[in-house]
Amino acid sequence: MSIRRSWSADSYSAAVECNSRLFVSGHAAQNLATGEVVHGIIAEEKELMARRSFTRTTEQPVPAGVVGLGLMGTSIATCLVAAGHRVVAIDKDASRRRSLKRRVSLLVRDMRRKKLLAKDPAGVLKHLSTSDDFGALRDCGIVIESIFENLNEKRNVLRKIEDAVSAEALIGSNTSALPVTELQRGAQHPERILGVHWGEPAHVLRFLEVICGAETDQRNAEKVMRLASLWKKEPTLVRRDVRGFITNRIMYAMIREAFYLVENGYATVEDIDRSVRNDMGYWITLAGPFRYMDLTGIPAYGAVMRDLLPDLSRSQETPKLMQEVVASGARGTSNAKGFYQYTPAEAKRWEKRFLDFSYEIRALALKYAERPNAEV
Ligand SMILES: NC(=O)c1ccc[n+]([C@@H]2O[C@H](COP(=O)([O-])OP(=O)(O)OC[C@H]3O[C@@H](n4cnc5c(N)ncnc54)[C@H](O)[C@@H]3O)[C@@H](O)[C@H]2O)c1
Repeated sequence: MSIRRSWSADSYSAAVECNSRLFVSGHAAQNLATGEVVHGIIAEEKELMARRSFTRTTEQPVPAGVVGLGLMGTSIATCLVAAGHRVVAIDKDASRRRSLKRRVSLLVRDMRRKKLLAKDPAGVLKHLSTSDDFGALRDCGIVIESIFENLNEKRNVLRKIEDAVSAEALIGSNTSALPVTELQRGAQHPERILGVHWGEPAHVLRFLEVICGAETDQRNAEKVMRLASLWKKEPTLVRRDVRGFITNRIMYAMIREAFYLVENGYATVEDIDRSVRNDMGYWITLAGPFRYMDLTGIPAYGAVMRDLLPDLSRSQETPKLMQEVVASGARGTSNAKGFYQYTPAEAKRWEKRFLDFSYEIRALALKYAERPNAEV
């Protein structure tokens, strides 16, 4: 068998020639015609290229902007400034701007304590500034929008960003579920608009989804994938726009089912949290759903799907319990009001446990990373 592979330094295209009829890749064996271009191998090479490009990036930390300094914008700004970017942070709310340095300072000091930051936190903070003027974004090579989840507001903000930055600057939206293609509509340069979906806390998690809208130039998505290495992420490229991307589609399917079980009296909120923590909670950081099925025997899943899938919730409505909890003003631990009862001290304790756990699970995931010496 002879396989010739070629790729260019800045392109994912891989040419593979196979002179044998049999090619074995990992667990898979396929019969191949002589000289046939092997799509499976190309996919593998692409994956390899993607890994190379985000583990050994040559990208430099360009000036960056963050718009919207709520929960997520704060941890995104923290991640970027810790990674060496000069960061301009914008919010329409003066109190959010005033408190940003104090909030980011707490997070970078925590990063330093947990050895996720080698630099001096005070030096890092010098590269963070705030403004209410979008013109302050003019030198940015990348801007991340993270205002609340509303299509028209996000579109307005994206237009303001476009008016301020150069035509080459990348613009990422941290939308949870709005189609990127919708955000691109009416843009001056839609090819540089993409979804950059972070998880909270953004300065700790390795999670990042980079989503191409219908008009995104894939080279721009690849550039964000490379930048993600500076941000200590293990990013995923979502090649075609799909509402909710990967993890939110899967997580909301789970949450819908959780409400179904509560609302129909099968289990309580506490019961469901306990079961999910002790089942999915113990394997999902290591394996993901497909590896987990490989590890635990595929045929059983096939059999269960046949019987169980027709029984799962397919409700199109926001669950009644969710509507009631939202209407009550509950915001979760941030106002000590949620699916559970908290005193303010308990809510703070949970927030700290969540952050500490995020650091520890990151370290555990790195310990079990497939690539030896993985740093991100
Ligand atoms: N909370 C999460 O865990 C999470 C996870 C992933 C993605 N997201 C997405 O991130 C985005 C932000 O979520 P969040 O939870 O940080 O929201 P948030 O409500 O905490 O913060 C939004 C911030 O945007 C500011 N803002 C609103 N309109 C603005 C404008 N026109 N110009 C400048 N600033 C403006 C607000 O003043 C506020 O500070 C949303 O799209 C959300 O869906 C959230």
